[in-house]
Amino acid sequence: MWTLLERGFRRSAMWAYAINQSRAKVVMDPIYLGVAKALLRGTRPSEKLMKERFPSNLYFPYRKRSRKLQYFIEDWDFGQARPDLLTPRQRQMMHTVALGETSGSAVADGFLRTFRTNPELAAFFGTWFTEELNHFIGYHMYLRQMGEPWPAARGLEVAETEVRVYADDPMEVAACNMYQELIGFLVYRSFAKQVKDPFLGKMLAQFAKDECRHFRFYEDVVARHIQKNPSFRAVVLKVFLKATSPYNQVSGSASNVLDHLAMGAFYFRKPEYEYFLGENEYLLGTSLRSFWDWYFKGLLPPCRFCSKEPYQCSCEHFEDGEPPPIRNPGWWKQVTSGRAASAEIDVDEWARELLEERKRARAEAAPS
Ligand SMILES: [Fe+2]
Ligand SMILES: [Fe+2]
Repeated sequence: MWTLLERGFRRSAMWAYAINQSRAKVVMDPIYLGVAKALLRGTRPSEKLMKERFPSNLYFPYRKRSRKLQYFIEDWDFGQARPDLLTPRQRQMMHTVALGETSGSAVADGFLRTFRTNPELAAFFGTWFTEELNHFIGYHMYLRQMGEPWPAARGLEVAETEVRVYADDPMEVAACNMYQELIGFLVYRSFAKQVKDPFLGKMLAQFAKDECRHFRFYEDVVARHIQKNPSFRAVVLKVFLKATSPYNQVSGSASNVLDHLAMGAFYFRKPEYEYFLGENEYLLGTSLRSFWDWYFKGLLPPCRFCSKEPYQCSCEHFEDGEPPPIRNPGWWKQVTSGRAASAEIDVDEWARELLEERKRARAEAAPS
């Protein structure tokens, strides 16, 4: 009986996840916040966090670091890409990560709007946006090499989504972005280690580094805010419980949202899980290990090699060569609006142009 009840609860929690940024958000947000408060009852902020010293303007050091690390992904030699070495799941995963990065333009106006009166966050937005552009461009260049470029109208549909802002409070939006950068970092890093194409492995590892830097920036903003407002920890936990990400709004349907969740969760293994718990410990003052154990349990079938739940698996190689068990693998070819997209927004056209440009530049540079 209890298992049945629990299964029912789990299933509704999954659907709640898929719609928690829809219009139902008004009703659901207070419930998530209530659960967060209950989970944090009797806890205190971590000593490590409270002792930390932060610069009054976090953007200055970020900018300094960012200009040293600047790169342009189209300078990389995509001719070395070996998409033929990818498993069916990894090919599918390329579309999921491309969607996340394609959502940038749709989600960004909400970020900038909320950040506009906070100079530190507004300035960071500018740098962040150009850094994310490398990810967007790089993934679509790779998809072209893979022979699975998106139809122009698909990119347009993502861009056209009227994304509901995560929150009106800039600090809550910072917490949401912190969460998605953390998950992006962990999933890219893990995915990077599984792919057999060295070019893609390198590109994913680079993107993971970028996301980690973004995560650290937001984390400092959030931690500094917690020092002054310990009760903000409940908002941070709420954001984690909601698994806030753009996928909820740009995937097209609730079942597609759950497909992307399954795609990403496959790469969330024990090292990622432990990292995640460590960040909980630092930000909330408690890792909530037993709660998160329950939260992640049964999300996916066990690992083929060690038979453990994926989030408990520490196999170095865990790709099983199977296609992912998702409902709608062809989502990226589907266009629902039914009208022609303008050529300017054709992401594949961009990818083709950038690939050609590099070839031209190389031909010119070659001694005749
Ligand atoms: Fe990114
Ligand atoms: Fe990022």
